[in-house]
Amino acid sequence: MITKDIEPAVQVLNKNDLVAIPTETVYGLAGNALSEIAVSKIFELKKRPLYNPLIVHIKSLEYLPQITRNIPSKAYKLAEDFWPGPLTLVLEKSPEISDLVTSGKSTLAVRVPNHPLSLALLKQLDYPLAAPSANPFGSISPTSAAHVDHYFHDNLQIILDGGDCQRGIESTIIGFKQDTPVVYRLGSLPLDDIQKSVGEVISLDTNAIINPQAPGMLSRHYAPKTDTFLTEDVRELASSFPGEKIGVLLFQHKITDFPVYSQEILSPSGDLNEAAKNLYAAMHRLDQLNLDRIIAEKLPEFGLGLTLNDKLTRATKKV
Ligand code: TXA
Ligand code: MG
Repeated sequence: MITKDIEPAVQVLNKNDLVAIPTETVYGLAGNALSEIAVSKIFELKKRPLYNPLIVHIKSLEYLPQITRNIPSKAYKLAEDFWPGPLTLVLEKSPEISDLVTSGKSTLAVRVPNHPLSLALLKQLDYPLAAPSANPFGSISPTSAAHVDHYFHDNLQIILDGGDCQRGIESTIIGFKQDTPVVYRLGSLPLDDIQKSVGEVISLDTNAIINPQAPGMLSRHYAPKTDTFLTEDVRELASSFPGEKIGVLLFQHKITDFPVYSQEILSPSGDLNEAAKNLYAAMHRLDQLNLDRIIAEKLPEFGLGLTLNDKLTRATKKV
């Protein structure tokens, strides 16, 4: 059932079953983070490998000390500046969080989502919600209730419909080395904003095939089923596949002098926030068209453009 009513969602969660929830980034597949039964169901339904830990969602910063400890001062500063919002902090976990949630790691990823429905839901519960993105492992993240329904229709009792996700890209994940922030995943909070808040941040080698610190940074991820390519010159690459049914994913401008089957423009005005909001929905639409190939245009290499290019690079990796 797709609904805007949180009451049935509370009932289902209290029975250790799962509910899809809207957030400002992407939809999450949520269950009671303190219940191993619920957490197991998340891994099972997503077909997520057990080595890939979950993000826990809490209602406010005040709840943070109940599930984490030894919180660095810069973590507090970031949480004060950006929560509720698209920032996930990786902190030392407290004992009540099961090893199943963290895949045996001593750290826990946690955030306060910025969506009125999910915040209202969290306030009705006396436990936090573990919620990875509501997509099968490795596929494109959902940014609408319809996307979630497409993936899980028969296997999910409740999808809470909070409309289209305003950010459209997952949260930025930050861990800590002593008190220095370390970037575990690029996301919808640009690194510039984080640097303005707490100064220097260290970047991880996010190209490592499996990064032990951020197991979700698998090189192939967010991937359409259709063979997808990333290039600076879409027209040139498209013209090297004559006769194919090609869909293109472009930043600002349509291709006018070359025939392609379908075109998605992420932001006619060249706004990276708008492009982020539209990216996954555009990928979902292209992936429904039975194309021979999707060709995506590389975005400008600054601000959110860095995040979007990172997602597109993973979506187009062949292994
Ligand atoms: O915006 C978001 O973050 C969305 C919404 C639903 O909140 N959630 C999301 O979850 O993107 P998921 O599971 O798709 O991505 C979580 C990422 C994974 O790459 C996982 O490896 C990483 O967080 N992660 C979780 N716990 C971690 C930890 N203790 N240390 C390092 N990385 C961790
Ligand atoms: Mg995900």
